[in-house]
Amino acid sequence: MRRSFRPLLAVLAVPLSAALALVLISPAPATADRGVVGGQAVRTVEAPWVVALSSRAVFGTTRSGQFCGGAVVTPTTVLTAAHCLSRAVLGRSWQEVRDLRVIVGRNDLRGTAGVEYPATQVWVNPAYAADERAGDVAVITLSRPLPSAYVLPMAQHGDPAYQPGIRAAVYGWGDTEGDGSYASTLRMATVRVLDDATCAAAYPGSAEGQYQPDSMVCAGLPSGGHDACQGDSGGPLVAGGRLVGLVSWGSGCAVAGQPGVYTRISAVAPLVAAHGSSR
Ligand code: ARG
Repeated sequence: MRRSFRPLLAVLAVPLSAALALVLISPAPATADRGVVGGQAVRTVEAPWVVALSSRAVFGTTRSGQFCGGAVVTPTTVLTAAHCLSRAVLGRSWQEVRDLRVIVGRNDLRGTAGVEYPATQVWVNPAYAADERAGDVAVITLSRPLPSAYVLPMAQHGDPAYQPGIRAAVYGWGDTEGDGSYASTLRMATVRVLDDATCAAAYPGSAEGQYQPDSMVCAGLPSGGHDACQGDSGGPLVAGGRLVGLVSWGSGCAVAGQPGVYTRISAVAPLVAAHGSSR
C-alpha cells in the first residue's frame, strides 16, 4: 500500500496540467505487462473454469465487485476459499451480503460480458480456522448448470499432478505488484508445485502460518517473482489439466523462499462431494 500512495501524493503536489503531462509521458504502468504477480494476460475463454466472486455492495462497482476467485468443478459446483467468505474479508457474515455473485466468462471486470449467478447456496467449511488456515474451502452451488466445457476436474489423492516440480498455473484478478494494484483483466502466473519438505521449511510455524501437508500444497519458483497475491484467493492452481489447489495464503507475494500456499484439493474432495452437487 505504501508504494501505491507515494506516486499519488507526488501527482497531487504538482498543478493539474503538469500532473496530466506527467501521466501522458509516463511509460505504461508495470501492471500492463505483469501478472497475478509476475504473470501474463490470459482470457477466460482459455480458462473458462476461473470465476470471480463479487459483491458490489461491499467492494464497489468499478471491477464488478470482484474480491476473490473460484473454480468450477462440476456444472453446478464452484469452489472458493473459506476465508473469502469470512467476516474478516466481508466485514459481516456472508449471509448478510445480499448481492454475493459468481461471475463466469468476464475477462475484463470493467465490462459486462459473461453471466452473473447469485450465490445463494453456500457451504463454508466450519472446520476452517483462521489461525491454522487448514481446510480453506467453501462450496457454492449454482442454480443453473454450466456447460461441461466450464468444468475443471479435481485432482484426486495420489494424483501425478501433485508431483513436486510439475509446472502449474495460478489464475486471478488480484494484486499484480503486492501493493494494491488490482488487475482488471484475468492474469495467470506459472509456478512449480513444491515438495512438502520445502513448503514446511518455508513455513515452519510462525506468525505467517504453518504449512500442513495433509491439507495444503505449496507452489512457487526458487527465485520468487511469480505468485498469487491479495484478491486471488479462492482461485485455481492448475496442473496436468486438473485443479490441484485454491489460493489460500503466503508471506508477502512472489518473495523468494516464501511460496504461495494453496488448499490441497485432493484433501478436501470428500467435503466437496458431500456439500456440492454432482450435476
Ligand atoms: N489471502 C490472499 C487473498 O485473500 C491470498 C494470498 C496469497 N498469497 C500468496 N503469496 N500466494 O486474496
